[in-house]
Amino acid sequence: MDFSLFKKYNIPGPRYTSYPTVPYWDTNPTSEQWISDLKLAIEDATAQNMGAAIYVHVPFCESLCTYCGCNTRITRNHAVANPYIDVLLKEFDLYRKKLAINGKLKLSELHLGGGTPTFLSPPELGRLLEGLLSQCELTPDHELSIEVDPRVTGNEHLAVLSRFGFNRISLGVQDFDPKVQEIVHRVQSVAQVRDITVNARTLGMSSVNYDLIYGLPFQSSDSIQNTIQKVIELKPDRIAFYSYAHVPWIKASQRRFTEADLPTGDEKRALYELGRNLLEEAGYFEIGMDHFALKTDSLYAAVQKNELHRNFMGYTARNVSPILALGVSAIGDSWNSFAQNEKLLETYQERVNKGEIPIQRGHLLNDEDLVLRRHILNLMTHLETAWSLKDDGTEYLAVVPSRLTELQKDGLVEVKTEDDEVHCQVTEKGRPFLRNICMAFDARLVRKAPETKLFSQTV
Ligand SMILES: C[S@@+](CC[C@H](N)C(=O)[O-])C[C@H]1O[C@@H](n2cnc3c(N)ncnc32)[C@H](O)[C@@H]1O
Ligand code: SF4
Repeated sequence: MDFSLFKKYNIPGPRYTSYPTVPYWDTNPTSEQWISDLKLAIEDATAQNMGAAIYVHVPFCESLCTYCGCNTRITRNHAVANPYIDVLLKEFDLYRKKLAINGKLKLSELHLGGGTPTFLSPPELGRLLEGLLSQCELTPDHELSIEVDPRVTGNEHLAVLSRFGFNRISLGVQDFDPKVQEIVHRVQSVAQVRDITVNARTLGMSSVNYDLIYGLPFQSSDSIQNTIQKVIELKPDRIAFYSYAHVPWIKASQRRFTEADLPTGDEKRALYELGRNLLEEAGYFEIGMDHFALKTDSLYAAVQKNELHRNFMGYTARNVSPILALGVSAIGDSWNSFAQNEKLLETYQERVNKGEIPIQRGHLLNDEDLVLRRHILNLMTHLETAWSLKDDGTEYLAVVPSRLTELQKDGLVEVKTEDDEVHCQVTEKGRPFLRNICMAFDARLVRKAPETKLFSQTV
């Protein structure tokens, strides 16, 4: 490994789950604009015999993991669950009315994220799913998925999920090392993870994902090796091996450990390389950025068929659009526009209870955004993109080759121009720098470098 490159390119940068990235949204849609965009997108998907996706955000967690960057509400008071479910179902109802959906909504994907969706008790989870799915018609190839915390997920939860046909489950594992678990305030055993994995499979869930994080305090090559070996024994179908995003100016709880205990730069990258080598030896394939899948998983098939997609929920096996998002801070996507719900739980609940679509901010993509969104998505999923200098719709693309020159000199991308056609391919050496490569296409970032700290480090 050439560690000098990690020093050179380890700068703050977006993770590109969207383009434009959230801090650069500047054209808030009104509720009417958002609804009208979403309606068109749903009609379009239905006309093509595809369904929409629904994302539901459940913010509650019983305790705080100090590394966490998600939008959460920490509470042990389970009385908050039922009123929250009422509001989620009311929000869905508001959408159905405003979108004038008379029959059932055609649905290809439902994803429950958080926070911790299994903070809800099994009967509460059942009530939420009944309320949502009774108003939807599932497409034949639908995916129903959920993020679960093994510490608060029991067999009864899995039985409810199975009853509603959930076929994908994602477990927050993070790290198995006791010292790391203690410092990040997330202690859980291998047995807890194993039980859920085995039971989910017995109930017919075809894809089990584990979330792991590298770059946490006290992680070392020994601890990562042990964690990955245990993971390999449990053999999840997919693994997200996330780079720890250290953003203490946004998440104060990340100040609870000492920065000196964090592996950074090349030390941090070496942990990823070690994990990757072990996973590849065990039959996993690296997918896009920070993800792995077995050959039998649909994510691997998606790469082979050039159908891999990426959105706010991470990598998915196909492009399901639009996304109708329910819950506090949830982000919807009609492709031409984004809309994020109120981020404060009380404000979100109040607005829905008043009968309002609770969006707080969003972005209407202009022509340039739409073109650049496509190229950044191509890079994040297929590691290549191409355009015509003559007619690809945006002037900015003409300067992209010059912005790639340094990356090209360092062997991270190959850029070829023939007859006004430009082709940009990420090399194997360039894969760790995917975020940096996408930054060359990010016109908004290039035009206005952030004045305050916004993003985590790219490495
Ligand atoms: C909503 S949580 C998953 C479900 C459940 N709350 C749990 O933790 O088990 C989403 C995932 O985001 C990842 N994550 C959270 N904070 C992160 C950070 N600061 N950097 C990188 N990944 C992070 C973790 O891997 C976590 O599993
Ligand atoms: S990592 Fe999961 S369980 Fe921990 S605080 Fe974040 S959302 Fe909650």
